[in-house]
Amino acid sequence: MVANLIQHDFSGKIVLITGGSGAIGSRLLNFFSSYGATTVGTYRDEMSIDITLSKPEGIDLFRCNTMEDADVTSLVNTIAKKHGRIDILVNTVGGYLGGKSVVDLEEEEWNKMFGLNLLSAFLITKHVLPLMLRSGYGKVVHISSYTGVSAQGLDSAYASSKAGLIRFVESVSKEVKDYNITVNCVLPLIIDTKSNRKMMPDANFKHWVKIDEVVKIIAFLSSDDSRAMTGSAVPVLKST
Ligand SMILES: NC(=O)c1ccc[n+]([C@@H]2O[C@H](COP(=O)([O-])OP(=O)(O)OC[C@H]3O[C@@H](n4cnc5c(N)ncnc54)[C@H](OP(=O)(O)O)[C@@H]3O)[C@@H](O)[C@H]2O)c1
Repeated sequence: MVANLIQHDFSGKIVLITGGSGAIGSRLLNFFSSYGATTVGTYRDEMSIDITLSKPEGIDLFRCNTMEDADVTSLVNTIAKKHGRIDILVNTVGGYLGGKSVVDLEEEEWNKMFGLNLLSAFLITKHVLPLMLRSGYGKVVHISSYTGVSAQGLDSAYASSKAGLIRFVESVSKEVKDYNITVNCVLPLIIDTKSNRKMMPDANFKHWVKIDEVVKIIAFLSSDDSRAMTGSAVPVLKST
């Protein structure tokens, strides 16, 4: 019976995936597209499009540095002009920096983590929300990290920026709770991606969560089945 509740029908929805060239973002683009959505993705580096997204059909891709207000403004204006609204925003832009003590950490590295993980989230949310408020509908999902609730050590900039994202999500969700807009985030630990396998070749990959498992949780948070959930930070840790 429960299976009947999870419909995964996104037909007619306008979906924006930031970081569409990344491991999670590219899978999300294909996922939403295959369930009927009009899907728009962003990338930063032209090269990564060729690597992760082979000839995406029916998916619009825009170059956008999500740490730049002008880029984000122009992206959202372009989508608004073409589609009139954005129903679902999944922000996957982010980056990791670990293995460095706070003593050795450079100010530039600290700022980069906060730029990628927090400023980007702020800018994209700030510019997409007015469209959602206008249409009276919206689903926003950010990718934070389990490290945002429990740091591993030697990851102060990453952990603090992801922790900040959790509070950001909670705060914004309360701002828009009366407007049929939900704002949530997911908290994966290590995801089984190509780049993680390359960085940690001796790890037991079986213990890592699969990309598709993260995608399924994001799909739920992007669907009307999760209309009663907002401001949540959902751990996505275990893979079988
Ligand atoms: N992978 C994990 O184990 C893991 C665990 C916990 C949380 N997360 C979080 O999950 C999210 C996605 O992870 P992922 O593994 O898919 O990462 P990824 O493969 O490295 O992808 C990151 C994406 O962000 C884009 N990006 C980077 N800097 C940008 C900028 N300044 N402006 C616009 N786009 C920018 C990249 O674009 P280009 O490819 O064009 O550079 C890429 O599309 C991140 O927020 C990450 O912190 C990941």
